[in-house]
Amino acid sequence: MPEITSSREVLSTLDASLRARLAERYRRVRAHSLALAAPLSAEDQCIQSMADASPTKWHLAHSSWFFEAVVLQPHVASYAAFDERFARLFNSYYEALGPRHPRPQRGLLTRPSLGEVQAFREHVDAAVLALIAGADALTWDVAAPLLELGLNHEQQHQELIVTDIVHALSCNPLLPAYRPLATPLPRSTRTPLALHWLAMTGGVRNVGHDGEGFAFDNERPRHAVLLPAFLIADRLVAGGDYAQFIADSGYQRPELWLSDGWAAVQANGWRAPAYWLAPGDARAPAAHWQVFGVHGVQPLDAAAPVAHISFYEAAAYAEWAGARLPTEFEWEAACGVPAISEMYGEVWQWTRSSYDPYPGFRPLCGAVSEYNGKFMVGQQVLRGSSSATPAGHGRATYRNFFPPAARWQFAGLRLAKDAPR
Ligand SMILES: [Fe+2]
Repeated sequence: MPEITSSREVLSTLDASLRARLAERYRRVRAHSLALAAPLSAEDQCIQSMADASPTKWHLAHSSWFFEAVVLQPHVASYAAFDERFARLFNSYYEALGPRHPRPQRGLLTRPSLGEVQAFREHVDAAVLALIAGADALTWDVAAPLLELGLNHEQQHQELIVTDIVHALSCNPLLPAYRPLATPLPRSTRTPLALHWLAMTGGVRNVGHDGEGFAFDNERPRHAVLLPAFLIADRLVAGGDYAQFIADSGYQRPELWLSDGWAAVQANGWRAPAYWLAPGDARAPAAHWQVFGVHGVQPLDAAAPVAHISFYEAAAYAEWAGARLPTEFEWEAACGVPAISEMYGEVWQWTRSSYDPYPGFRPLCGAVSEYNGKFMVGQQVLRGSSSATPAGHGRATYRNFFPPAARWQFAGLRLAKDAPR
């Protein structure tokens, strides 16, 4: 006689499998943060090179504080904080969760030591894994989505660990590498591939996340937009393309620039993307353009996507090229078109869309309502993902955002055009 499995048994097997999967994912994501920090000394992990960037040690602590403040303290009655004082040090911007240490002064936190921060992580890990294993059904229903948010949050900080340390190391006259190469790369002889324009038909398109799987609140709700027909480039703008813009006096021609962008060029002395070293740069003399990055100073690869440009530079380049930036909805509509390349894993792509709430946007409940919504002013949306984005973190509806002058992210551009009428 076949064994009859009760629905309660099926549910409990499903629940155990969900919990095991989340525990495994939690361990993997948390370990990746430590792996990113591993090449860095304790001194490297403490420095803060500018107000926008944070020390590696702070990222390691803040991502742990997030689990403590958002998941453990509200939902585990027996949880004891590792150190009550850490809330003030490692709260980033959550007004509802108490006072904070000023952001520009995170580099002054030589204490707690790196070892204490690592012990803090282990304390949080033990409590989270115990919660996943032992939470009752009611607690699990509330805690599981918050744990998923915490993991996606930690992945965002993993990218920031990389972008922030590259900026910090770029400020060192020795230009040390975050991840040195065993053998220096030879000077690339590649040139940019031919650029092809892909014709996209106009019409009503649905954009935003459909609710299947994880998404941040800013990706919802899914809604319809009307897109006129447009053209979009099949590849990203490459370093060799951008070098032509520089050689054509792109940084000296105000007619190419938005007013704020031209002001930023003048105020900051921009003449090339951040981390580009002009021929003859005294820090690493060479007769050709070089680029500083995770592997230190390397020859410019003319075929690789240009990175570390602001929105202003992206818009000026597009103007020079007789094109424009795509809107975020055009980018999303083009996602998945067979002939399009370099949508993910290269550079975040500046769009012409300002970071606004979608119609019907509702922030998450509780303290995490501050996660995205309150930043919806004065920033541009970037789409795709970059070489610093953790695997599996990008998706077609993902909305990254930065102020238009930001250059320390792995950000570049793809061109678009209105369709001929
Ligand atoms: Fe954060």
